[in-house]
Amino acid sequence: MLRRYTTLIVAIVALLGVGSATIGDTIVMQHPRVIERVNLMRSSKLALEVLGAMASGREMFNRKRANAARRALMRNTGKIASKFRRNPYDPASRARQHIWTQWADFKAQSKTARAASKGLSTRNVVTLRQTLPPMINACLSCHQTFRKRP
Ligand code: HEC
Repeated sequence: MLRRYTTLIVAIVALLGVGSATIGDTIVMQHPRVIERVNLMRSSKLALEVLGAMASGREMFNRKRANAARRALMRNTGKIASKFRRNPYDPASRARQHIWTQWADFKAQSKTARAASKGLSTRNVVTLRQTLPPMINACLSCHQTFRKRP
């Protein structure tokens, strides 16, 4: 069971991937607003990785660290809508135009993500394992609809 869980978390965190603005890549985001929203996403990825490592047993559970990661995710998911409201042109961005033509849906997905972050329980590793999948699903679900594949 733990092993299956580990595989799930590792696969899912890997799926979130890195974007096009990585070092060594030719395409780099340039618009400051796009850089800002991508940095917001990267910060969420880091927080999620901390929780994933603890949930899978790759790292010892640490309540303080887990709680800090949860708070970062709450903060970040609460900022998604405002960071995406404008639609500046940046050819390196992987944001799909659907975001702005289906804004209500995009906003709803960011709310779901925020709710999932609030729902994370960092009481112990068992409750963390129980509450992490909805968080991961919320990230992936929005990406599936609103982010271009590399
Ligand atoms: C409401 C929609 C939405 C939610 C929820 C969401 N994302 Fe994103 N994410 C996006 C979009 C859109 C992009 C592409 C942004 C761009 O390229 O301009 C993105 C990009 C990313 C990237 C790539 C950044 C880069 O380097 O290019 C990562 C990593 C990421 N998100 C992680 C996460 C994590 C982790 C979560 C959950 C905690 C999450 N996202 C939740 C919409 C979302």
